[in-house]
Amino acid sequence: MTTVHLARTLSFRDDPETAGETAVVYREKGAVVVGDDGRIRWAGEAADLPPAFAAAERLDYGTSLLMPGFVDAHLHFPQWRMQAAPGRDLLEWLERFTFREEARYADAAHAAAAAEIFFDRLLANGTTAAAVYSSSHAVAAEALFAAAERRGMAIATGKTLMDRGCPDSVRDDPHRGIAESAALIERWHGRGRLVYAVTPRFAVTSTETQLRMAGELLAAHPGCLMQTHLSESRREIETVRALFPWAKSYTDVYDRFGLLGPRSLFGHAIHLDLAERRRLAESGSVAVHCPTSNTFLGSGLFDLARFAGGEHPIRVALATDVGGGTSWSMLATMGRAIEVARLAGGGLTATRAFYLATLAGARALARDGEIGALEPGRVADLVLVDPRATAVLAARDDLSETLEDRLFALAILGDERAIAKTWIAGRAV
Ligand code: GUN
Ligand code: ZN
Repeated sequence: MTTVHLARTLSFRDDPETAGETAVVYREKGAVVVGDDGRIRWAGEAADLPPAFAAAERLDYGTSLLMPGFVDAHLHFPQWRMQAAPGRDLLEWLERFTFREEARYADAAHAAAAAEIFFDRLLANGTTAAAVYSSSHAVAAEALFAAAERRGMAIATGKTLMDRGCPDSVRDDPHRGIAESAALIERWHGRGRLVYAVTPRFAVTSTETQLRMAGELLAAHPGCLMQTHLSESRREIETVRALFPWAKSYTDVYDRFGLLGPRSLFGHAIHLDLAERRRLAESGSVAVHCPTSNTFLGSGLFDLARFAGGEHPIRVALATDVGGGTSWSMLATMGRAIEVARLAGGGLTATRAFYLATLAGARALARDGEIGALEPGRVADLVLVDPRATAVLAARDDLSETLEDRLFALAILGDERAIAKTWIAGRAV
């Protein structure tokens, strides 16, 4: 059945910071027509709705904002219930809490039950696509892929590779790790809306052999993504320097093993020198900004202005980094990104933050032909955001005079409660 959704609609053609105002497509009285194939058939001004859709069912959401579903470009499935673990910094947090929690995902039944809760939580927050780290156990990635497939979601994930610097309960070895990854690629990559992400956790927990094999696996499967962590905390960077004394930098470690490229996502990427930024830029790699995690773990302030602008523009996406991150909400994540940008000395408009949470994420995951914008042919993964969802938001919304103003209030004050409805491929979930 074809449905006409009437609302304020927001979508992006490009980064409003670099491309200017024409990058923002906002309609006060917009219409999005979704066909029974779950794809957008038409989007425009409600007044211009083509006669062909005159008889279709109409749903009117008044002053709520209809937009592409949020894309969370970095979060951890086996950390879904360990937010707010009080580690003093990244490495202590990993050793004291995280590895221990992830060890439970060796159990297929535990992972299967957790996967349902995990996706429920994403959808409740309006997140319709994500790049997800699973645990190091193949059974957990299997459970996650199966649950994502049942829900028809656009998910990239992979078994985390880690063959040193961690307890036996979460450690693999280079050959088994790669063999399991290859088997998961065979079984799941490209099936429905699923994509495999080769996932070496970070240089601290992978030997050179494992990183080299990960690079070879990626080269053999160029449609896969690659995701890892880069330059998040000072102690982590010192550890990497000691483990890879030959490397020019932390980025150089990954570069040496062929892990940079336009399908490579580097979580955090806070503390980088000029040469590292240049390499990330010229390789087309993506830096994934995880602001609530970075403030929670005290990792540092991601200086967004130096990434997307400047001489060496680096692609950027936005992420919750659950469970290092303190919120599942991409709204709250945008709010923290705005605050962090202020502290870092640059700035971030709310309009651009919404771009980062939608089209930039779709681009980062190499799926901008599929999702991330309200355009004909895209899959109708949508979210309806209510700028008046709570008494606090409603009172603040009374003062909003511009789109930027309204989006700013949503980013700073909004959370799960502002998500009125989420659709996967045109189906309300
Ligand atoms: N670096 C290596 N592993 C992790 C992780 O699980 N979370 C975060 N925030 N950083 C990491
Ligand atoms: Zn992470």
